[in-house]
Amino acid sequence: MLSKNSIEVSKLIKEYGDFTAVNGISFNVKKGEIFGLLGPNGAGKTTTVHILTTIIDKTSGEAEVAGFDVSKDKDAVRAHIGIVFQDPSIDDRLTGYENLELHAMMYSIDKETRTKRIKEMLEMVELSDKANVVMSNYSGGMRRRLEIARGLLNEPNVLFLDEPTVGLDTQTRRHILEYIKKLNEKYKLTVLLTTHYIEEADYLCDRVAIIDHGKIVVCDTPQKLKEGLHGDIIKITMKTEKEISELDKALKGFKNVSSFKIDEADKKVAYINVLETGSDLPKIIEQAFKKKLNITSIDIRKPSLEDVFIHYTGKSIRDEEAAGNEMMQSIVRSRMR
Ligand SMILES: Nc1ncnc2c1ncn2[C@@H]1O[C@H](COP(=O)(O)OP(=O)(O)O)[C@@H](O)[C@H]1O
Ligand SMILES: [Mg+2]
Repeated sequence: MLSKNSIEVSKLIKEYGDFTAVNGISFNVKKGEIFGLLGPNGAGKTTTVHILTTIIDKTSGEAEVAGFDVSKDKDAVRAHIGIVFQDPSIDDRLTGYENLELHAMMYSIDKETRTKRIKEMLEMVELSDKANVVMSNYSGGMRRRLEIARGLLNEPNVLFLDEPTVGLDTQTRRHILEYIKKLNEKYKLTVLLTTHYIEEADYLCDRVAIIDHGKIVVCDTPQKLKEGLHGDIIKITMKTEKEISELDKALKGFKNVSSFKIDEADKKVAYINVLETGSDLPKIIEQAFKKKLNITSIDIRKPSLEDVFIHYTGKSIRDEEAAGNEMMQSIVRSRMR
């Protein structure tokens, strides 16, 4: 393998009839990197993962994984990757150990290596004591951990994780994230993960590509993405949608207001990116006062990855916000202990 990159994607397109699920995306993932595809449901994340893992064929474009072409060298790609699917894909009637053994046999891993590797992976995800329990008795979190262990049996160079923490409780999500970090550090494993949890991408990923409607709208480190939005974000809520659009009009031509984004899901809310809160906030309030607009609440913050997401996609990932924040708070709390 000559390339420094574990994954190289260029102008990738996937069409289903008239519908374009993946619309010409390009990105690279460096060796040893944790790379995140962050986007809402339907953005094209799973489709991209399925193309890169040779499960489905692309319509056009180029993609290489671990140095092999995903269309021409499918077997080689498969030999070098591990996958954890979005949907559970494990046999409930078998024990954890049996599931791993079956999988290792499919990769023709010899008995001795297999035994050693299964033991190591079970320890890694802290399931050694549950190895002989039938999977139907596993919790959601235990299943995910076993799936991660399974994805690692063939000693892959690249691990694909499609929404690894969806449907898990806060505590379990936190554990899964810690395992991913540990794996990446211990085995220098390249990880491509998809998520619609902004805080998860922020916490875990070296670089994040924001994907929406089949297109990558921006890609960089979480830090750089946040720095790209200068100043502060003023989140303002008004009594009616009409008042928000009135305020938008009133602030046109204010040079310190670098953007005014009305929330797509709740049009009574706007995110105003200002350069100098100290002098800009009074001006905004003055305008609202002059036009007799009713402000319900104002919240000022430094740009978060959420704001970056809003800036580039024009919407927030609302439902997940609370869950994500809660999870991050519990990570921070546990670190501080
Ligand atoms: N087999 C398929 N046939 C037609 N449309 C599909 C198929 N698979 C996915 N899509 C559509 O492609 C879009 C992207 O889907 P997906 O990649 O699963 O998004 P994500 O994983 O980001 O939620 C969605 O609108 C989905 O309905
Ligand atoms: Mg998906």
